[in-house]
Amino acid sequence: MSLHIGDIAPDFSAESTTGKIRFHEWIGDDWVFFFSHPGDFTPVCTTEIGRTAQLADAFATRHVKPLGLSTDGVAEHMKWIADVNDTQKTTVAFPIVADPDCIVAKLYDMIHAHESTTAAVRSVFIIDPERKIRLTMTYPMNVGRNFDEILRVIDALQTADAKHIATPADWMPGGKVIIPTSIETAEAKKLFPQGWTEERPYLRTTTL
Ligand code: BEZ
Repeated sequence: MSLHIGDIAPDFSAESTTGKIRFHEWIGDDWVFFFSHPGDFTPVCTTEIGRTAQLADAFATRHVKPLGLSTDGVAEHMKWIADVNDTQKTTVAFPIVADPDCIVAKLYDMIHAHESTTAAVRSVFIIDPERKIRLTMTYPMNVGRNFDEILRVIDALQTADAKHIATPADWMPGGKVIIPTSIETAEAKKLFPQGWTEERPYLRTTTL
């Protein structure tokens, strides 16, 4: 099943390292960083799970719950987490879904046959509190993700929602933002009383 931005993230129930997860119920009022990795006891995955744990405060500040997944079982996950904690100098507290039968991985199209028919690639789903998929990314098995970018896109999505703006290339929090073309001048004057720079009628930037 291929999932698109704007789709409701499919619900599921699965075992995890912190107990059974009923996904939609578990989301609560938060955002979710749902990410798959190929397998336990593998090097790139060890660094990614460790990095996610190290960023616990950064995710919490943004009201984002991380949720990992691989097609291994809970017992293997638990043994591996001890290794992750030890080697990455952290404490993994977020849940990792155990999906040995690839049920959730198939539901989220995380199995890419040219990479593996039994293990997930590195998929990312950013899901909002309405359970809507807001961003997807897919990395191959041999390339670890950039977690600064994951936090950056979460900041961009949350700022865009709150402030009616879009973000330009390489935007970082505090940088100039774009007034979307869907906002007419009269409305823009109300929303952005600080004014804006108009380089073209379709290219208006402002600072929040
Ligand atoms: C890794 O995590 O290092 C890895 C896992 C599966 C395939 C390639 C790399």
